[in-house]
Amino acid sequence: MEKILETKFAGLTLSNPIIVASSGLTNSASKNKELEKSGAGAIILKSLFEEQICEKSENELNDYLNLVRETKKHCCIPVIASINFYKNDLWADFAHQIEMAGADSIEVNIFAFNTELSQEFDSQENAYIQIAQRLNEVVNIPVIIKIGKYFSHIVQLVDNLLTAGAKGISLFNRFYQPDIDINKLQMTSGKVFSSSDEISDTLRWTGIISGRLPQTSIASSTGIHDWEDIVKCILSGASAVEICSTIYQNGHEIISTMKRGIEEWMHSMHFNSIEDFKGILNYSSIENPTMYERLQFLRYFSNRD
Ligand SMILES: Cc1cc2nc3c(=O)[nH]c(=O)nc-3n(C[C@H](O)[C@H](O)[C@H](O)COP(=O)(O)O)c2cc1C
Repeated sequence: MEKILETKFAGLTLSNPIIVASSGLTNSASKNKELEKSGAGAIILKSLFEEQICEKSENELNDYLNLVRETKKHCCIPVIASINFYKNDLWADFAHQIEMAGADSIEVNIFAFNTELSQEFDSQENAYIQIAQRLNEVVNIPVIIKIGKYFSHIVQLVDNLLTAGAKGISLFNRFYQPDIDINKLQMTSGKVFSSSDEISDTLRWTGIISGRLPQTSIASSTGIHDWEDIVKCILSGASAVEICSTIYQNGHEIISTMKRGIEEWMHSMHFNSIEDFKGILNYSSIENPTMYERLQFLRYFSNRD
């Protein structure tokens, strides 16, 4: 019945492009079952963080493997495990155990910035590529790399990640947002949830990567809050989306509302499948690709007094 929304991402077949992003929303099998009932196309389990692997807390590792097993037992949709790390190598063995526990795929969220002057210019990029390569050696399930947007050459990074064996790329991870309390003279935490206006960079890079590297299987993420946002991501070249903030804010019901919205729009536009409109507005498909670039900046702002 739902075939019209079917899509493939990172070698997985999803009944629809809505993936629930890694977060507290997906930290128990019962919640995951509810997300499936609400219509999610796939779920990405809450991440296991490097610190948890390093501390070798057997309980935490076992709990995570149980989360994978239990979720797989109760859900039919693809279950993607998630690990979040930035330096150590201990995760490799654990990634293998995650595969054995039944995960359909594994997403890696690498959280790191270069802040040391002594770090090489491309050390960050190389670390990502090595992780993708290593992970691809230790597991047989598809590897998804979730990247941030703070790179000088995202196209080349993604190209290298694909060569290293990544089957899917998630654009983008949203980092913890620092803020400053000017009265207490203290660092504080900024907004936990994204807002709709954060979608522009997501669209820009989905469109550019899809145009430049059409073989990339992309899940857009960050700032996707309604069905129109999902349609925009697919038009710019995404195969799927990973959403989080909007579910926290609007509840699970937003998933079926989104699916209905996409379906109705597809009918009105005479599209019969996601493939019919995927990427038709990406960087290489539009007449004026500078729309994705900075050039527009001049025209956009020069008309304002
Ligand atoms: C409360 C919360 C917890 C999150 N936990 C994780 C996590 O464990 N691992 C991860 O990769 N991303 C985590 N994220 C990031 C989300 O997966 C997602 O990439 C980000 O929120 C952007 O999507 P959105 O704009 O739809 O919220 C978390 C986000 C929120 C709001």
